[in-house]
Amino acid sequence: MSQWPDRRILDLLGIELPILQAPMAGATGSAMAIAVGAAGGLGALPCAMLTAAQIAEEIEAFRAACPGRPLNLNFFCHQPPLPDAERDARWKQALKPYYSELGADFEAPTPVSNRAPFDEQSCQLVERLRPEVVSFHFGLPAPQLLQRVKATGAKVLSSATTVAEAVWLERHGCDAIIAMGYEAGGHRGMFLSEEITSQIGTFALVPQIADAVKVPVIAAGGIGDHRGLVAALALGASAVQIGTAYLFCPEAKVSAAHRHALDTAPASETALTNLFTGRPARGIINRVMRELGPMSELAPRFPLAGGALMPLRAITDPQGNSDFSNLWSGQALRLGRHLPAGELTQDIADKALQQIGR
Ligand SMILES: Cc1cc2nc3c(=O)[nH]c(=O)nc-3n(C[C@H](O)[C@H](O)[C@H](O)COP(=O)(O)O)c2cc1C
Repeated sequence: MSQWPDRRILDLLGIELPILQAPMAGATGSAMAIAVGAAGGLGALPCAMLTAAQIAEEIEAFRAACPGRPLNLNFFCHQPPLPDAERDARWKQALKPYYSELGADFEAPTPVSNRAPFDEQSCQLVERLRPEVVSFHFGLPAPQLLQRVKATGAKVLSSATTVAEAVWLERHGCDAIIAMGYEAGGHRGMFLSEEITSQIGTFALVPQIADAVKVPVIAAGGIGDHRGLVAALALGASAVQIGTAYLFCPEAKVSAAHRHALDTAPASETALTNLFTGRPARGIINRVMRELGPMSELAPRFPLAGGALMPLRAITDPQGNSDFSNLWSGQALRLGRHLPAGELTQDIADKALQQIGR
């Protein structure tokens, strides 16, 4: 498999195809990682919404099905927010009409949403289970924790949404940088700025990051087929990370309502929203985004905003109604195809190689 024009990521991560399956918390598990890993790409396990025991179980399943293949464990590394009862109350008040409409108990204590940052316990898990690759979202963990991850021999990746973030990540020890364009689905990996206007599209971001850092660059955002891979390589990326396109695969763990939205929404109907978690993330526009506006000053800080939506979702989700659920998706959703993840990975790689003409 020496036909790829740039082998840096292949050699660094020990993979055959320059395709990384995006870790997608809540939407992918070991089945997806196994399918992509077996095809020669890099499978990933998102850990932000899993307990230590669940992570260990998922890794075991991957190791059993894909012996000798590398695995990417992905963690969030946000700072947990300070309590802010006033903000929480204002946010819940904004949702009060929905509580009344659905008959949800407004006076009951607000549930806490569950996205855990990388900490001592996750670090011990990495030291014990030794994934070949560890990727972070929202920057990097504290230097002592990062040092311990690197001491295991794991290659470290993180997402940059601006050139400044890429330079920062390289300076702080990242082995490769995921250049995450504005088109991408899910949470923006932004960590040096909260300013949405700082966010850049993939076509502009990738070559500028490739010029600014020495480590290899992985393009992410809006890449859904071989044309995106070929373009990313031409722009100076060594590989791509693909998220949304994998949501269409049978291995994805998305709800029926999310699947329906992915199958039917036009490409123009996604937006960045902070309503579901407190951080900007791209998803298909639904009722609560339309009525409150996708970005709200009222939403509590990440990951707390989701708490006050939970009692509403407890009523609507079982009805297959996604009025209050996040429908994460990138802008390239209409490129999605219902193929098994291994087949999709192979198809993107084969056609890209044909197009490159090697
Ligand atoms: C449903 C969904 C969940 C995501 N969750 C994570 C996550 O847990 N960790 C992470 O690093 N990135 C996450 N992302 C972002 C992806 O890693 C990737 O950058 C993005 O999907 C690439 O853009 P694309 O969706 O246009 O392919 C998520 C994306 C989606 C669509």
